[in-house]
Amino acid sequence: MTFKLSVNGQTHTVDVAPDTPLLWVLRDHLNLVGTKFGCGAGMCGACTVHLNGQAVRSCQMPVSAVAGQKIVTIEGLSADASHPLQKAWVELDVPQCGYCQSGQIMSAAALLASNPKPSDADIDAAMTGNLCRCATYLRIRAGIHRAAEIAAAHTEAAK
Ligand code: FES
Ligand code: FES
Repeated sequence: MTFKLSVNGQTHTVDVAPDTPLLWVLRDHLNLVGTKFGCGAGMCGACTVHLNGQAVRSCQMPVSAVAGQKIVTIEGLSADASHPLQKAWVELDVPQCGYCQSGQIMSAAALLASNPKPSDADIDAAMTGNLCRCATYLRIRAGIHRAAEIAAAHTEAAK
């Protein structure tokens, strides 16, 4: 069956079974391999992407449920790694092995889009479903605070 998907501002047509998880389509059909397979069961957050601006687990989304909706992956977060989270992640050297980090960043980006100055508690609540086997949680939290500062400074400078 064919489905039209809007991913990172581009329309793609894929021919797959309706229950194929979005994660499979992204990685195996569209070669967008920044989104990772972790558990395949909605438990780890490694596969997080944005669906209409919300952080969702792409391993749990059948392609038939997301056709025609706005999907953004880590590759589409910014054109040139200029998103405040990407800058903060580099500045604070957040990742260790890196495997979980695109999912972490996509969850954090959805948080900052709705809450530009989150508290520690806000961050912990929003990020609780994103696991990191390297336990970089403190750097992730610091990175989100730093990204909020970078975004605020950018907004101020643009006034
Ligand atoms: S791979 Fe989707 S939540 Fe773990
Ligand atoms: S950085 Fe290794 S799993 Fe998170």
